[in-house]
Amino acid sequence: MRRVASGGNVPGVTRLPFIRPVSVVGALAAGALALTVLPAVAVDPGTTGADTLFPTSGNSGYDVKRYDVDLDYTPASNQLAAVTTVTAVATKALSSFHLDLEGLDVSDVEVGGQTAEFSRDGSELIIAPAAAIAKGATFRTVVTYGGTPSVHTDPDGSDEGWVPTSSGDGAVALGEPVGTAAWIPSDNTPSDKAKLAVTITVPNGTQAISNGRLVSRTKVGDTRTRYAWRSDAPISTYLAMVAIGRFSITRDTYRSVDGRRIRILNAVDTANGGSSAAIDKLPAVLKAEEGWFGPYPFADAGGVVDDAAVGYALETQTRPFYPTDGPSLGTVVHETAHQWFGDSVSLTDWHDIWLNEGFATYAEWLWSGSHGGLTPAQHFTRLYATPASSGLWSPAPRTFTDAADLFGSPVYNRGALTLQALREKIGTRDFFTVLRTWARMHRHGNVRNAQFVKLAEKVSGRRLDRFFHVWLEVPRKPQGY
Ligand code: TRP
Ligand code: ZN
Repeated sequence: MRRVASGGNVPGVTRLPFIRPVSVVGALAAGALALTVLPAVAVDPGTTGADTLFPTSGNSGYDVKRYDVDLDYTPASNQLAAVTTVTAVATKALSSFHLDLEGLDVSDVEVGGQTAEFSRDGSELIIAPAAAIAKGATFRTVVTYGGTPSVHTDPDGSDEGWVPTSSGDGAVALGEPVGTAAWIPSDNTPSDKAKLAVTITVPNGTQAISNGRLVSRTKVGDTRTRYAWRSDAPISTYLAMVAIGRFSITRDTYRSVDGRRIRILNAVDTANGGSSAAIDKLPAVLKAEEGWFGPYPFADAGGVVDDAAVGYALETQTRPFYPTDGPSLGTVVHETAHQWFGDSVSLTDWHDIWLNEGFATYAEWLWSGSHGGLTPAQHFTRLYATPASSGLWSPAPRTFTDAADLFGSPVYNRGALTLQALREKIGTRDFFTVLRTWARMHRHGNVRNAQFVKLAEKVSGRRLDRFFHVWLEVPRKPQGY
């Protein structure tokens, strides 16, 4: 659910001349412009978002229900031609609103079937529909756009967005934290989840993989093939993924702990030999994680290995992405754990990233402990011995202010240490009750850190605010916890 804006523009976002108040009935007759009488109810422009680390990512004034993304991609020239339909509900009366879109040329925008005015300001696509949108109304925005998509470089120097593969056979679209704006005009924040349908038309002989299930594969003329994918569970935009190239595709099924048949689809780049021993172990990983965290939250699972040299794996929903050479088993354990923590139970603000990475790292410790490696308690002892001057302890996992620290050691390792310290404090039984209740209560929802603290307090019957403060918010090695 989106936050509702307080109204007014965020400093730094230019108010463009065409963005003027329009009446709710949209009666902006030529010549009557200056005399248009506004209704007493405010009709505000929607604005950009309010994330503490990525303030221009995400928008206010509406709640997206669904994205229909229609892509046509030619690897040889790295050219994208796209039409995206965004179906949203206005959370207030809107004279204009923003979508996030980085690069590409927009040729047309329609809202409710009528041509709309639009302008660009950095990665904001600002849309003024012909008629204002009433609060509570469902409205459809169709954006036609294309060109050479951007590789987005993050504050920490890593690449995301639309990344062509090393072999030149295609590209992969990756979006954490903000790269999805390179290919979907969107409310690009984890807090606005929506359904997603992606179709990708590519030259014959090239395949296209995305999230969820493959609905159809159809010929388009003599030279192109269209792949249609669908995610029925809501998805945060940063977890949307497309991988285009040549893959060896394998399918399997997995029977979940609550009796559902989960469809597994793996796609491994043929340049990688077309197989990955670690990905083949996915059923065993799902089984172990269901034992710790409760039922797998989606109907689809799998993985994609592609030769994009980004240097990281990503928990793209239902189908994590693994870079060139394929993952280790530990990485599969990590990205699969994110399906519960991050993908199903999602952040509201990037500041709470430890709720993703601390948990996925802890899952790796649980796996190693049950497969002949270090137990979580042993991981704790080893890491806790790190000197107080180590970069593990500072900045603290929740109080860093530089977005370059989003994927730093404190978030991952001090985050996982926090969970082991919690386990030692409240006991193993209550600890797993907390994890499973968290996954169940907030399935397909959005959370904030304070809700986790409250749940742990409720399950254990103890006050834990000071404990979590010391572990997550003080930029020093915790002592005497
Ligand atoms: N969230 C990813 C994971 O832990 C990692 C990730 C995404 C990352 N983007 C990154 C790590 C950039 C380092 C740099 O599974
Ligand atoms: Zn992770």
